[in-house]
Amino acid sequence: MDSIHIVGGKRLEGAIPISGAKNAALTLLPCALLTEDALTLGNLPRLADVDNFSHLLNGLGASTKVEGVRKGEFGRRMTLHARDIASTVAPYDMVRKMRASILVLGPMLARAGEATVSLPGGCAIGDRPIDLHLRALEAMGAEIELAAGYVKAVAPRGRLPGGDYSFPVVSVGATENALMAASLATGRTQLFNAAREPEIVDLCNLLVAMGGKVDGIGSSHLIVDGVEGLHGCDYDVMPDRIEAGSYACAAGITGGSIDLIGARPHDMLAITNALAATGLVVEFHDRGMKVTADKPLRPLSISTAPYPGFPTDMQAQFMAMLCLAQGESFLEETIFENRYMHVPELRRMGASIDVRGRSAIVHGVAGLTGAQVMATDLRASMSLVLAGLMAEGETEVLRVYHLDRGYERLEEKLSAVGATIERRSAG
Ligand code: UD1
Repeated sequence: MDSIHIVGGKRLEGAIPISGAKNAALTLLPCALLTEDALTLGNLPRLADVDNFSHLLNGLGASTKVEGVRKGEFGRRMTLHARDIASTVAPYDMVRKMRASILVLGPMLARAGEATVSLPGGCAIGDRPIDLHLRALEAMGAEIELAAGYVKAVAPRGRLPGGDYSFPVVSVGATENALMAASLATGRTQLFNAAREPEIVDLCNLLVAMGGKVDGIGSSHLIVDGVEGLHGCDYDVMPDRIEAGSYACAAGITGGSIDLIGARPHDMLAITNALAATGLVVEFHDRGMKVTADKPLRPLSISTAPYPGFPTDMQAQFMAMLCLAQGESFLEETIFENRYMHVPELRRMGASIDVRGRSAIVHGVAGLTGAQVMATDLRASMSLVLAGLMAEGETEVLRVYHLDRGYERLEEKLSAVGATIERRSAG
């Protein structure tokens, strides 16, 4: 199994290109199932999750063709074509690998009138149920049955009528599934307390580009008037705000200066505000934003929340950075119940962190020391890479497959700004 080796202590300086957003890609890809035309997606990040998703779509009858990647370019273009839906079953071995596979449920149901998707099962960062996905589809007229670890959804007369649903909890995935299903319904769907994440806006914009009718884009009240059919189009995935935020933390933790080329600062103001509050200089410019550390880091108080709040997907990376702040920081995780799995590993590197339930107090320390570490989820793994970048000596981050799910060419991007980092294969 591969591992990432980092020799810490280098000040990072230079430019990092920001890739297409993983979480946007994972909801734009299943839109291929909504049309019998070809859908071309550009700026797709080269990530294990994107590959897994395209294999899942292949199994459902969509062909996928990737254009060659030119040297020096990061994103790639993929043309997906689901002329027919060959199978309406998303099997356990695919869904197990990637929770986001549940996002084929809405589009398959809308297009084929039925869909059978394996229940995702346990997840490292908490329970993560899919009840809201199912309740929203039911409100739109779907009949749902759970049996033998699968959820089977049927549109009684072949197409969903559409309907209104108010989410009791803001859910990104459930909002996405509902939006995709609603786009081909026979009537109107209204979603209340919908998620407002920029990735949801990206999905709405794609649906509109495909001929869909969506109103209230960017708000928590989305109105979708179903259409007879959607057509293909050519659409670029938005930049990854979590990748940009992660590399901003790399500038902060190493006392460096990184220009995040292609980042869209207006999609990530909770992150940029937190970066500024910890003392970093954040400059927006027309090609992205530059983050520079020119003084010691200040401690912070952060509580995760749905967009436009501070994203749970940035909590672990900020925690790594705040380990070096001068004073005590307070973090509260309100979205997932088990999202501090990086804490014991950071402690092994010399961090001083107390966790009580969903709260964590980070006591700033003068430095960290390298160690062999591993984490059980993507963002937690990134927090260990960040800690390794400033730790004294060598850090070895195991279970690199987590990082490969969400950070395109991590070692290459960090080496280019001066990090000593390499991937080693254990044969
Ligand atoms: C998405 C992101 C993930 C991010 C999360 C929160 C993708 C592929 N993943 O995950 O990176 O951390 O949003 O921003 O886009 N919930 C229920 N029932 C449901 C669905 C969710 O109770 O049916 C709860 C969850 O347990 C959680 C909260 O709602 O406590 C938010 O989860 P949700 O927004 O659905 O996260 P995902 O879409 O899975």
